[in-house]
Amino acid sequence: MNYKAIVFDLYGTLVDTDGTRDACIKKFGDKGSELVLLWRRFQLEFTWLRSLTGDFKDFDQITQDALVYSIELLGLEHSNEIIEEIAESYVNLPAFEEVATVLARLARNFETIVLSNGTPPSIKVATQNAQIYSHLNHLVSAAAEGIFKPSAKAYDQIFTATTANKGEILFVSSNSWDINGASTYGLDTFWVNRRRAPFENLGARAKYVGQDLNDLMTLLDA
Ligand code: LAC
Repeated sequence: MNYKAIVFDLYGTLVDTDGTRDACIKKFGDKGSELVLLWRRFQLEFTWLRSLTGDFKDFDQITQDALVYSIELLGLEHSNEIIEEIAESYVNLPAFEEVATVLARLARNFETIVLSNGTPPSIKVATQNAQIYSHLNHLVSAAAEGIFKPSAKAYDQIFTATTANKGEILFVSSNSWDINGASTYGLDTFWVNRRRAPFENLGARAKYVGQDLNDLMTLLDA
């Protein structure tokens, strides 16, 4: 194992997208939890659909569009104020419990890089608010070419931040579709399977699997 750079997905991997639950429940009561799940699902789906059509909108806009659509799908009322308030919770997602400690350790021996579909300002604010910004060497938006992960063009963006070659990079994500994309692209991958979920059957496999980032630290002997 000769990795120089560890590249992390952000949403769902370092920060918890379920952190929007309180805001959703505050506005929509019982339907709040369902809204959290639908919102994330359509957020991802809209990135893939826009990647296919080529009609690009950035991740902030897509996150908002997916929120509006999910609220409407549940038959709930919304206003600009409600949308803004709930969307704001997306900027304040907490890091998973072990993340700050593990990143601090890894940053001593590896380049630590985030590759996220998010916009550069949002990735920065999200990592600052989650108190992990100082442990990350580079923040890279995967969507710089107007197309989202899991397009190869999105993984290409890693090389704007590092001189490591493909074989010297370990890509870490809790999203199994993202692990598929990165593996197909030719990177070694570590799937963070926090919820003991089945792996999405899209062809590729993760090289390594762990339950959280502590398992990554053990693997890297950091
Ligand atoms: C990210 C989301 C899609 O790229 O997990 O950070």
